[in-house]
Amino acid sequence: MDIQVNGPAELERLAVSNDHIPHPVVGEPAAGAASPHESASLHVSGEALYTDDIPELRGTLYAALGLSQRAHARITEMDLEAVRQAPGVIDVLVAGDIPGENNCGPVLHDDPLLADGRVQYLGQPVFMVVAESVDAARRAARLGVLQYDSLPHRLTPQEARAANARTTLGDLRLQQGDVQAALDAAPHHARGTFQCGDQEQFYLEGQISYAIPQEKDGMLVLCSTQHPSEMQAVVGHALGWQAHQVRVECRRIGGGFGGKESQSALFACLASVAAHRLGRPVKLRVDRDDDFMITGKRHGFWYEFDYGFDDDGRILGVRLDMTLRSGFSADLSEAVASRALCHFDNAYYIPAADIHTLCGKTHTQSNTAFRGFGGPQGALVTEVVIERIARFLGKDALDVRRLNFYGTDTRNVTPYGQVVEGNLIGPLVDELERSSDYRERRRAVAEFNACNPILKKGLALTPVKFGISFNVPAFNQAGALVHIYRDGSVLVNHGGTEMGQGLNTKVAQIVANTLGLDLDCVRITATDTYKVVNTSATAASTGTDLNGKAAEDAALTLRARLAGFAARQYGGQPEDVVFAWRQVSVQGRTIPFAQLVDEAYWDRVQLWSDGFYATPGIHWDKATSHGSPFYYFAFGAAVSEVVVDTLTGEWKLLRADILHDAGASINPAIDIGQIEGGYIQGMGWLTTEELVWRADGRLMTHAPSTYKIPAISDCPRDFRVRLYTARNHKDSVHHSKAVGEPPLLHGISVFNAITDAVAAVGDGRQSPDLCAPATPEAILRAIEGVRQHGAA
Ligand code: MTE
Ligand code: MOS
Repeated sequence: MDIQVNGPAELERLAVSNDHIPHPVVGEPAAGAASPHESASLHVSGEALYTDDIPELRGTLYAALGLSQRAHARITEMDLEAVRQAPGVIDVLVAGDIPGENNCGPVLHDDPLLADGRVQYLGQPVFMVVAESVDAARRAARLGVLQYDSLPHRLTPQEARAANARTTLGDLRLQQGDVQAALDAAPHHARGTFQCGDQEQFYLEGQISYAIPQEKDGMLVLCSTQHPSEMQAVVGHALGWQAHQVRVECRRIGGGFGGKESQSALFACLASVAAHRLGRPVKLRVDRDDDFMITGKRHGFWYEFDYGFDDDGRILGVRLDMTLRSGFSADLSEAVASRALCHFDNAYYIPAADIHTLCGKTHTQSNTAFRGFGGPQGALVTEVVIERIARFLGKDALDVRRLNFYGTDTRNVTPYGQVVEGNLIGPLVDELERSSDYRERRRAVAEFNACNPILKKGLALTPVKFGISFNVPAFNQAGALVHIYRDGSVLVNHGGTEMGQGLNTKVAQIVANTLGLDLDCVRITATDTYKVVNTSATAASTGTDLNGKAAEDAALTLRARLAGFAARQYGGQPEDVVFAWRQVSVQGRTIPFAQLVDEAYWDRVQLWSDGFYATPGIHWDKATSHGSPFYYFAFGAAVSEVVVDTLTGEWKLLRADILHDAGASINPAIDIGQIEGGYIQGMGWLTTEELVWRADGRLMTHAPSTYKIPAISDCPRDFRVRLYTARNHKDSVHHSKAVGEPPLLHGISVFNAITDAVAAVGDGRQSPDLCAPATPEAILRAIEGVRQHGAA
C-alpha cells in the first residue's frame, strides 16, 4: 500500500534534509540514511518469501473451512457426509475434535475456533476439511449441509446501543472537570450524531498458517502474523500443550495493518490441530472472500455528542458517547475503545469532558485492530464537529482549530491527565499553512465555487496528535539477539515482525550504526519464538521504538566488550576506541572490524549478546481512565483539496500537503512511504471503502469487485509530503518517532475537504448531513440535503 519514493535524486534530497541526526559513533551514518527497504528488490522481483512461497514438505495437506450461513442461530443438524466423501478429502474436523481449548480469544475466552452448537455471525467457521489439494479442500467445504434454528440478530452499533447490548467487555468512562457546568455555561452547542464505517485491512497476503509436526509432540508454525508469541500461546492451548512445544516463525508478512495482530490465531490453531491429528504438515490459507467473511475489521463507530463552545469557537466542554461495532466477541475491542477515549481530543485542549464507550455486541465478524487502533475513530468526531462549529460561526476552520490547540505551558493537560510535552502542533501547523499556501488557496477555492454551479471545490487542514505506547504498560517491552561471526558479519534477531513497514531495515541501520558498520554487514533473520521470547505484538507503532532499542542495547554490550578487548590488546582506554567505516581505531592504530572480532574470538570474548528494553515512566489506571499512558506524542498536519461533481457525487483529490513529525528520522525514505501509505489508507476508510451487511447479516462486499480500496489513480497528482525537522525530546531510539499509524489520521482532511465542497452548494454556513464513508451516493444525498435546506 505504501508508495515508494522514486529515484536516487529524491533519496539524496531526503538524506540531506535529515542531516540533523546525531550519530553517537563517528563515521558512516547507517541510521538516518534514506536506505531502501532491505527487501525492496525482492518485493518487486517476486523473490521475497511469504508463507505460501516457502517450499512445501512432502505429504503436505491443505485445509479449508465450512462457514455458517446464519448470523445467529442454533445448529440443529450438521450433515458432513458429502464432505467426507468428496474426492481428495482426508479428514473433517468439528469443534469436538479440538484436543485442548476451543478458543483463540486474545483477552477473553469467547472466540471459538469452530462453532460449537451456536453460530454468532454469518461466516463463522463451523467445520474444517483437510484434503490432498487446496482445490479439493475448498470444493468439499461447500458440501456441508447444516440445519439451523435462527435466533434474533443485531448488526449495527445503533441497534447494540438501543438494546444496551455489549460484548463481555465493560464500558469505559473518562470524566474530567464539571462537564454539566461547562455545558450549561456554554453560549453555543454542537449537538448531534455521527457515524463512521468499518474498514477491511485488505492486506495483500491473506491469512495463512503452515503447521509442521515436529518430533516429541512439537509443532513448527510458519504463520503470517504480527504476534508470534501469542500464536505460540494459543496453539499451545488448542493442543493442550506447553508453550515450549510450539515454535512460531515469521520472516515477513504481506501487510497486516492490525488484521494479523490477534486474528491470525484461528488459522494458526486450526492448521496445528489438523497437523497434529494427522501427523502431516497442514497448510490453511483462506481465499480473499473467506478472509473477508471470517475476520474482523476496523470498528465502525456511532457517536452521540454535545460540544459546548463560546462565541469565538473555543470548546468549553464535551459529552460524547461512542458505540463500537465490536462484533460477536471481545477480541481487542476494549483496547480499541480505550485508544479512542485517549484520542477524541486530538490536538485540542478540552477543559471538561465526559466520554463513554460501549463495545456494542453485534452478530458480525469480531472487529479488531486496524492502523490507529481506535485513535482515528476518536479524533474523527472532534475534527468533524470543529468544522461544524466554524461553519456556524462563519469562520475559517483553521482559525477555530488554532484557538483550541494544546498550549505549551497552560492548556496542556489531556482529559486523561497526561501533560502534552514536546508539543509541536502550533509551529508545525504554521509551517504547513505557509508551505501549502493555505490562505491563498482558500481564496481561490471560494472564487472557483462562486463561478462554478456544477463543480465545487473543498479545502481542509487537519492536525494530528497521536500517543505512542501500548495502553497496557506491560506490553511496552522487547528483546533482541545480536551475533557477531568471526568474519565480522552480524546477525540480528528481534521480537518484532516485518510487515512491509521497514522495521527490519531500521533495526539493521541501528545495529550497523552502533558497530560502525555498513548495512550490508548486518542481516536480520525471521522472527522466531524459539529465539526471542515473550514478545509483544508488532503494533501500536512501537516496533522500532521497542525492538530498535533492544537491538541497540545488545549491540552496545558487544561494542563495549570489543572496546575493552581492543584497549587490553592495543592500549588506551575502552571509551576512546572508535567504531566507524567498518574499522576500529584504537591508540592511533586503525584495524578492520573483522580483524578485531577474530582476535577477540581467540581471546575468548563472547561475541553475541541479548538486549532488552522497557519503555520508562508510563502508567494507566483503567478504572478511572487516567494516567500517562504514552511515552510521547507524534504530531503532524495535512491539507487536502478536492473537487466534487454535484451532479454525480464523484470527486477527485487534487492536491495533498502533509507535514509530519517522525522525530529525527532513522530512515526518511521509509518514513515518507509510511506517511503516504497511511494517508491514502485513511482516505480510503472515509470515502470509497464501504462494508455493507444485508439484513440477514451477510457481508455483501467481500472482494475487490465490491469493496473499493484506493488505487494509484486515486492518489493526488500533486502530493507533497515532508518530514518536520525536530528530534524527539524523549530518549527514544536515535530520538526518532514512531510513524506506522499516526499518518492514517491525515486522511480525515480528505473527508473534511469533501464536506467543505458539499457545504459550498449552499451558503457555506450550513453543515452537510454527511457521514463516513463519503461514497458518491452519500455525497449526492448530502448535496440534495443542502439544496433542500436552501430552498426551505
Ligand atoms: N506498513 C505496511 N507496509 N504494512 C503494514 O501492515 N501496518 C501498520 C503500520 N504500517 C503496516 C504498515 C500498523 S497497523 C502498525 S501498528 C505499524 O505499521 C507496525 O509497525 P511499526 O510499529 O514497526 O511501525
Ligand atoms: Mo497496528 S493497528 O497497532 O497493528
